[in-house]
Amino acid sequence: MSQIWSDVETYLAGHLAPHDDALEQTIRSSDAAGLPSIHVAPTEGKLLHVLARTIGARRILEVGTLAGYSAIWMARALPPDGRLITLEFEPKHAAVARANFARAGVSDRVELREGRAIELLPKLAAENAGPFDLSFIDANKDQNPDYFDWALRLSRPGSLIVVDNVVRDGTVIDGASEEASTKGVRRLFEKVAAEPRVSATALQTVGSKGYDGFLLAVVKR
Ligand code: SAH
Ligand code: DHB
Ligand code: MG
Repeated sequence: MSQIWSDVETYLAGHLAPHDDALEQTIRSSDAAGLPSIHVAPTEGKLLHVLARTIGARRILEVGTLAGYSAIWMARALPPDGRLITLEFEPKHAAVARANFARAGVSDRVELREGRAIELLPKLAAENAGPFDLSFIDANKDQNPDYFDWALRLSRPGSLIVVDNVVRDGTVIDGASEEASTKGVRRLFEKVAAEPRVSATALQTVGSKGYDGFLLAVVKR
């Protein structure tokens, strides 16, 4: 990772996305519990927050909770009666996240469901938990196309779907890759490109988390 990327990230975040105690504790507790340090960067968490506010999100879906860092950024953009549902497969991650939601004072707005996302998403649809105004897909990358399908199904016209890690050090352009995650991201691009119901773009990002990217898709009205 380039030093200047992370130095600039520190500068940008210091001004516009500073950590309060709850966010700081979220990262600390994640590290202390031995969870992987793969949460979004502070400026990306703030981007999710700004996007949620921009669209006036009242219902948010997240696939992949980890320690709850991105969820806390998004939950803080919700009105008091708003709701965020986040899906997590690893019980250890879920336990750390629950403690962090409580510390951040967002437990009333955040519902964490444990299990494989591919099993939880159909249940959300069956119980009419949607439509979600914003969906953030950030779990196992091999199933990105399926998660996108479900996010679309759980959306309404005007909903925004954001997918993390769509560049991965540029590996996205390696059509010969046998990596399940790279294949999943590439199939996602093919799916989104061919999906007439959304208008989408993707942005390359650099920073404290290296070289990666976000995909953003809005469901057409
Ligand atoms: N969104 C978080 C980071 C998520 S990391 C943040 O930015 O703060 C990806 C998470 O997805 C990990 O916690 C991992 O355990 C979880 N995950 C992996 N496979 C999953 C699956 N099949 N269903 C649900 N969660 C899964
Ligand atoms: C990984 C997953 C992520 O969601 C991320 O932002 C970075 C890395 C990973 O599985 O390696
Ligand atoms: Mg990610």
